[in-house]
Amino acid sequence: MSKHDHHPTNATIESQYEEYVMPIWKSLDVPLERATGCTVQDFDGNEYLDVFSGIAVTNAGHRNERVVEAAKDQLDEFVHGCSYVHPNQPVADLAERLSEVTPGDLQKSFFCNSGTEAVEGAIKLARKYTGSKEVLAVEMGFHGRTLGSLALTGNRAYKAGMAPTINDVAHIQPPYGYRCQSCDGGPCTNACATNVERVIDSHTAGDLAAIVVEPVMGEGGIIVPPQGWLAELEAVAHEHDALLIADEVQSGYGRTGSFWAVDHFEAEPDIVTQAKGIANGLPLGAFTASAEVADTFQAGDHLSTFGGNPVACAAALATIAELEDGLIDNAADQGAWLAERLDELEARFDVVGETRGLGLMQGVELVDTSETGPQGVGPAPDSTLAKHVSRNLRERGIVMGVGGFHTNVMRIQPPLSISRTQLERAIDGLEAAIEAER
Ligand SMILES: Cc1ncc(COP(=O)(O)O)c(C=O)c1O
Repeated sequence: MSKHDHHPTNATIESQYEEYVMPIWKSLDVPLERATGCTVQDFDGNEYLDVFSGIAVTNAGHRNERVVEAAKDQLDEFVHGCSYVHPNQPVADLAERLSEVTPGDLQKSFFCNSGTEAVEGAIKLARKYTGSKEVLAVEMGFHGRTLGSLALTGNRAYKAGMAPTINDVAHIQPPYGYRCQSCDGGPCTNACATNVERVIDSHTAGDLAAIVVEPVMGEGGIIVPPQGWLAELEAVAHEHDALLIADEVQSGYGRTGSFWAVDHFEAEPDIVTQAKGIANGLPLGAFTASAEVADTFQAGDHLSTFGGNPVACAAALATIAELEDGLIDNAADQGAWLAERLDELEARFDVVGETRGLGLMQGVELVDTSETGPQGVGPAPDSTLAKHVSRNLRERGIVMGVGGFHTNVMRIQPPLSISRTQLERAIDGLEAAIEAER
């Protein structure tokens, strides 16, 4: 304990943060002393049901025993050797596992420490392989906050005061029928994917290295594309001799009820980026490509001092085993039940504009029906209601995320180990909170 020689409280932690941590933390609202499974506990002894997993990270549950054991065992061997200087077993084993679990012929991995690094590394690889430089990404998408991936992130709010980012990035429309003029607020008709060539013609020099997409968009508001969307982008990428990069940082590792979100669609990405759920909370990122693509990287082309930390890689191996031993199936089962319950909320409340998602990656879009939304499509997003619902839920002992391009989407992304009883408690709580705050 620092200067405080008493047991910390929420207030003491907050005051230390206030004084010593750069002031971006205010959005966090439950100081964390301890966490187990789907439960987090603050410094004042309050327990919360966690249906946000520290932004979709602790997929195998907080302090999953098998993962903790694997990490401890590795801690007893060695903690660091730089995985690109000292080849070691956890990296070798994890790379081999990833070649087995990733889609298609993806075979070789690079390990880093975070999602944003995975995205940037994947772009470097795509540029090196194709010899081209431009990148297409999706409006409202999110790929990270370092300057390279920030360029792909399709939301000005993250860039204000920080530009310029990297050049040569253009954006296509998201498959967000609910707020799309072409789809008139109805289900996505894939107009966005069929317009990609137009964007390439008018916003690029035709020197395309990659199309980077989230197969299910997370930060943008849990947006699930229709069948055909990803396949269309894959076809366009390949017509331009470019690569399709699936950013599975948030949607991967069982989150959507299958290992990868791309498993739900008929498309095969050329590179898959990973982080968040990969090591159940230990910092690790990765991107995986076919041998042909991966082998364009030569020694020295890319490196990370901490990347592929052996403790994190050991944790990742245990995480994958846990996911395959029932957690992905649980995500699919609970997710199907959850989607039905959320449909009931949509039918019951005017303020619930749309509910959507796959598996345990579900969103509830809150709206104000007395006003019209952006570009005259649908009802206005209601971020104030989302804030109130979130606070109300916290008072009921439930941590639920808020996100979306307009900050009006409740995000239900619990550990994949969540039980039906816990999920029922979360959704009953959400229903009561909406009832109270609308
Ligand atoms: C799809 C996606 N890509 C990349 C990132 C960036 O990951 P990180 O915060 O680990 O850099 C995120 C984080 O939310 C994400 O959701």
